[in-house]
Amino acid sequence: MTIYHLSTECYPVAKVGGLADVVGALPKYQNKIKGVDSKVVMPWYNKSFIYNHEFDIVFDGFIHQGPNMLQVQVLKEKTNVLGFELFMVKIPGLLDRENPYGYADENFQFIAFQHGVLHWLSAMEIRLDVLHCHDYHTGLVPFMTEHCAEFAFLKGVKTIGTIHNGEYQGNMNWEMAKYIPSFDYYKWGLLDWKGQINPLAAMIKCCNAFTTVSEGYLEELFISFRGLESLVRQEFGKAYGIINGIDTEVWNPETDPMLDFNYNITNALEQKKKNKEKICKEYNLKPELPLFAFIGRFAGEKGADLLPDMVWRSIKQSYGALNIIILGSGDPYIENKLKEYDTTYTNFALDLGYKEQLSHKIYASADFLLMPSRVEPCGLNQMYSMRYGTIPVVRYTGGLKDTVADISTGGAGLNFAFPGVDDMIHAMNRALSLYNQKEIMKDLIHANMSFDFAWEKSAEKYLKLYSNS
Ligand code: ADP
Ligand code: GLC
Repeated sequence: MTIYHLSTECYPVAKVGGLADVVGALPKYQNKIKGVDSKVVMPWYNKSFIYNHEFDIVFDGFIHQGPNMLQVQVLKEKTNVLGFELFMVKIPGLLDRENPYGYADENFQFIAFQHGVLHWLSAMEIRLDVLHCHDYHTGLVPFMTEHCAEFAFLKGVKTIGTIHNGEYQGNMNWEMAKYIPSFDYYKWGLLDWKGQINPLAAMIKCCNAFTTVSEGYLEELFISFRGLESLVRQEFGKAYGIINGIDTEVWNPETDPMLDFNYNITNALEQKKKNKEKICKEYNLKPELPLFAFIGRFAGEKGADLLPDMVWRSIKQSYGALNIIILGSGDPYIENKLKEYDTTYTNFALDLGYKEQLSHKIYASADFLLMPSRVEPCGLNQMYSMRYGTIPVVRYTGGLKDTVADISTGGAGLNFAFPGVDDMIHAMNRALSLYNQKEIMKDLIHANMSFDFAWEKSAEKYLKLYSNS
């Protein structure tokens, strides 16, 4: 079976968040299954990966987008270094940028990517079984393969859509329709949601099946999906929740080259302590106190707006009996408030920015990882932290609900129900009382490190879905 994953991110080529981790790992694990050939197609970015690897040009042609004619090149990484064939689509001016997101003309950028990929596959008459589309950036593909004359060669190819984040749907005005390759106009309703072109809605309507990255999140979409609730209810017959795995080769505390002190389940306690001492020294924190960490985007979905109040209140209420470290960036108001507290409180450290290596070090040295998410379709941080023996303290929602059970129900993490500072601090107080019970902490660290979040099971589920859809 030949599968093409279409995505705007793929670790380690270009990563903004968990989408990259999933697309960088799932195809690799699919390829371990006999008879499967899984590949990735993504936009070309001006990033270090492309300078450190060699590529062959496998396609060079042109597409027409409205009045514009654009050159499209497809480049293939020569050695399959990632465990799968990686193709990157280059379109001068649109798909040769520094970053995946944040450009005013991103509607053009994503339409051009989808058009470019399908043009290449049709023009070269490349045979495949499944186009697996990730998030709204590739959401128009299931419509295009069925209803655009230019891609007649691909008609009937199975399309699977995965929703990693339903908060973003890519809505655009109908004026943009002229940039979509010409389609049967009477099919316009498949693109429309409430008077706009909505790529995520189009994906749900037109694909053979769609998935969410956890079962818990799928249940939530029926009641809260930024206006698409009725659509997901209507199409529930082809909706599936498949939990993400983690790449246990990249995320392995025993071999992770980004850590100062590697460890496994037998020496976790001593080695984690050394990692913690090192990071506490670097950030002027107190290694004898419990270390709570947050890593992520400063966005409402992540509950990041709760962080500033959580910082000062938890430090005051515990009389300075804890350390907190935060790594991330985003909303300027949150950044500024946290910067202010960074200078006020010696128990608090802030590192603004996106720092892959530091994130690994924090997972390895913290005692507790905080995730006060309002919305969390799956969440990978909690799984990485568990693998590194760090106890997750999470809001009970979406994928967090499916992966972290509270110690009161036999699990090895801590849950809280409401995304507010009071509930979060209450959960942190429970964590503080655990911290002083060394035997329990040891058992929890071991229990967390023993969880199996490997991709194999979910990779099999996707294959079944491809076959049965
Ligand atoms: P999302 O994709 O919604 O941001 P996930 O939990 O699925 O959330 O994935 C987040 C990924 O991004 C994880 O690999 C996490 O370690 C990483 N990450 C988030 N923020 C940062 C940061 N500031 N520096 C380094 N890695 C980060
Ligand atoms: C999205 C979600 C996150 C999920 C990730 C990978 O970014 O916000 O919860 O883990 O995609 O599927």
